[in-house]
Amino acid sequence: MEDKNNKQTKGDVVSNDKYKEESWVYSGIVKDHFFNPRNILLDSDALYEADGIGVAGSPACGDMMTVWIKINPETKKIKECKWRTFGCASAIASTSMMSVMVTENGGMDIKEAINLKPQQILERLGGLPDRKFHCSVLGHIALRESINDYLKKNGSAKK
Ligand code: FES
Repeated sequence: MEDKNNKQTKGDVVSNDKYKEESWVYSGIVKDHFFNPRNILLDSDALYEADGIGVAGSPACGDMMTVWIKINPETKKIKECKWRTFGCASAIASTSMMSVMVTENGGMDIKEAINLKPQQILERLGGLPDRKFHCSVLGHIALRESINDYLKKNGSAKK
């Protein structure tokens, strides 16, 4: 089937020549974090005692992300960052990298972590195809929500 905009459709799959010019190449770091995701929560989340929980959904694709964090109450640094998602390879790799970034070197201060930008995650991943940028936002929004949840339970939340 072909429509007047030169799109070929079959079921819900659409192909269009303009997409052929986009880069579909994933960096070696993205592939590593997709095939070996760090800090993913494989056990029942009911057994994981988190200090904060954040959930985000992507309006672009309907995928969901949950992040669980544990905070050192004295230093206010992130001790653990666990996550789980229905998202794609880019969401998995991005959130895996994010979980490393916020827990490495003794943990990131929650004030720094709440201001983490998707661009910082993309830089550590060696980039993502433009069309996949929204996938890297999922984990970062869920992280922010989890910190806000922690702050609500222990003080004041940032809007
Ligand atoms: Fe839905 Fe990547 S998270 S396409």
